[in-house]
Amino acid sequence: MIYLDNAATTFPKPERVYAAHDKAFRECAGNHGRGSHALSAAASRGIDHTRFRLAKLFNAPESAAVSFAHNATGALNLALKGVLKNGDHVVTSAFEHNAVARPLEALKGRGVSVTKVVSRLDGAGVHIDDVKSAFRDGTKLAVFTQISNVTGAENPIAEIGLLCRERGALFLVDAAQSAGCRAIDVQAMNIDLLACPGHKGLFGPQGTGALYVRRGIVLDTLIEGGTGIFSENLEMPNEAPARYESGTQNAPGIAALGEGVQFILETGIDIIAAREAALASRLIAGLLGVKGARVFGPPEGSERSGVVSFALEGASPQHIDAVLSSVFNIAVRAGLHCAPDAHRCIGTLQSGGTVRASCGFFNTPDDVDALVEAVRDIEQR
Ligand code: ALA
Repeated sequence: MIYLDNAATTFPKPERVYAAHDKAFRECAGNHGRGSHALSAAASRGIDHTRFRLAKLFNAPESAAVSFAHNATGALNLALKGVLKNGDHVVTSAFEHNAVARPLEALKGRGVSVTKVVSRLDGAGVHIDDVKSAFRDGTKLAVFTQISNVTGAENPIAEIGLLCRERGALFLVDAAQSAGCRAIDVQAMNIDLLACPGHKGLFGPQGTGALYVRRGIVLDTLIEGGTGIFSENLEMPNEAPARYESGTQNAPGIAALGEGVQFILETGIDIIAAREAALASRLIAGLLGVKGARVFGPPEGSERSGVVSFALEGASPQHIDAVLSSVFNIAVRAGLHCAPDAHRCIGTLQSGGTVRASCGFFNTPDDVDALVEAVRDIEQR
């Protein structure tokens, strides 16, 4: 199979990720932080290593600022619902994933007001001046995706971070498509909260994710339960990460995630980003040579990720997806990609969305060329 669905989940993972999962599940299978025996200590070590590596990857000042979640959706829900209260105002973009858009919609029912910033150009990121105009006196939070999972466009995260600092607002970044593919420095970019999945660019298994919470911020909890510390108190501890990690964690998954992060640290983010961008550029150039093909996304020359959304005149995205899978054994994803607002922005909501091919670090130029030839074949039929 030619796998070009890395925005949904990366595949394959580096070999060391599989090995770490197997080893942790067999040899480090105690319950972390819940005992002093060797198996419990081994599980704790695996979790601590991963926490340390994630803090290093995001330049967090301390490991304790990184809490584990089951996925980016869980991390985003904790951040949004842990911060926003009745009467608060939040600024966001009009092309967020439903992992942001739906919790915000639910929070509207609890008295939170939301301003969505639209892009000036179809498929591009937001303009900083439009974000500035969306702020009100006392805006509590800005939440922006770093990279759109539909178009691959990038938002000016560092500029938005600076704006938030000047305006006294908290800044939450959805790094679902950028963690592991873009340099992220939570200190230099003035990011207060950063949510990421473990199973995409970080090469971990599904069921893993993380939330960075800047020291000094204490979020309301989404769930309460056992933490292995301060067990005599009925209230949740204020200390991170325990406050946000009730119950038994996915220790083998987190240990494996740590190996994915280590692979990134050793390979270098810039090398990963450059490879994905080169594959995306090759794919776009190829698709633009196919009659009736339209590519959505930021203008040529803009920063973009490995994500490429396209449509073909006369064929629905779902039909193309089905033929690519059944005839050519090429994996892509068609539809709305859980981001209907993004499709509203690029005008593809009513036509069934787009076909999305997402290149990952392990793809080759041959993979991309095979997709272009398959799309040409579909067009000719
Ligand atoms: N959010 C993931 C995607 O874009 C699942 O496909």
